[in-house]
Amino acid sequence: MRDLTAPAKRGRDVLSLGDLGTAGLREVLTAAAARKRARGDRPRGAPDDDAPLRDHVLGMVFEKSSTRTRVSFDMAMRQLGGAALVLDAATTQLGRGESVADTARVLGRMVDMIMVRTDDHAKLETFARSAAVPVINGLTDLSHPCQIVADLMTLAEHGKALERMTLAWLGDGNNVLHSLLEAAGLLGFGVRVATPANRQPDPRYLALARAGGADVRLTLDPREAVEGVDAVFTDTWVSMGQVDDPSSRAAFEPYRVTSALMRLARPDALFLHCLPAHVGDEVAEDVFEGPQSVVFAEAENRLHAQKAILLWCAGNRLAADEPQAAAVP
Ligand code: CP
Ligand code: NVA
Repeated sequence: MRDLTAPAKRGRDVLSLGDLGTAGLREVLTAAAARKRARGDRPRGAPDDDAPLRDHVLGMVFEKSSTRTRVSFDMAMRQLGGAALVLDAATTQLGRGESVADTARVLGRMVDMIMVRTDDHAKLETFARSAAVPVINGLTDLSHPCQIVADLMTLAEHGKALERMTLAWLGDGNNVLHSLLEAAGLLGFGVRVATPANRQPDPRYLALARAGGADVRLTLDPREAVEGVDAVFTDTWVSMGQVDDPSSRAAFEPYRVTSALMRLARPDALFLHCLPAHVGDEVAEDVFEGPQSVVFAEAENRLHAQKAILLWCAGNRLAADEPQAAAVP
């Protein structure tokens, strides 16, 4: 039944990076870096000087586990002057069969913004259609846009020119790779993808990247993928919700990021992983712990990136004390 009294949507959703668009993504990256700089070393719970989301509350719906996404959104809201509450789906009425649409309509009348982590991307879309407030994708089986904002921020911080770089992705053609491909289409960087033949990314994301002018190449050969690249990405071989099948694990073995593979990349190449990592599986310990690894800077940047995404969704001016900070290259 249509909710005849439903208020119109206030603000903007981020279900995918395409919702930001090229200009929005650049704006978010610039604002995230500026806010990070402007905070200095004040205590993590202290609000930014402008506290732009004062009195605002983010509701976070989790149908899957999370450490980084949960903590970064919570701390982001505190630093923006607001607050967050966590709804573990299993202990809400969602877990007892209340519909996604009804849950979204209720939350959209009580909180100011909603973040959803779920299995089926279609559920996220239903959430966004049904809630009268901005809805943010905190990971679905299809994509993980907030992760890639943090990753791009990390690459820029470490001196990479976002439009001119070439990245390699080794391992599983999963949700994180999909968002990376979407970013490639928005910014125009190159991506070399090496996965087992039956774990290649969804062709829609390859098409999206290529339509945006990105040079995207698929190969089965991890050596070919990493040759001369600016950064090497990987992720778990078994994502949340997937079955950990020992026979498919064997197919992933050649795609483990080892120091031998890293040596084929540029000497200043970085190693990125969204975490949680399974060291010894998708990445060798000496790479994970080595000087090219920026995985913990990347994890920290989830917080800074989240703040800019939240502000973009709320329709706020994004930057704090340094509104016109240098654009991300
Ligand atoms: N990278 C990431 O999304 O981590 P969590 O699953 O801990 O949120
Ligand atoms: N691909 C992983 C990312 C976790 C942050 C998963 O979906 O489990």
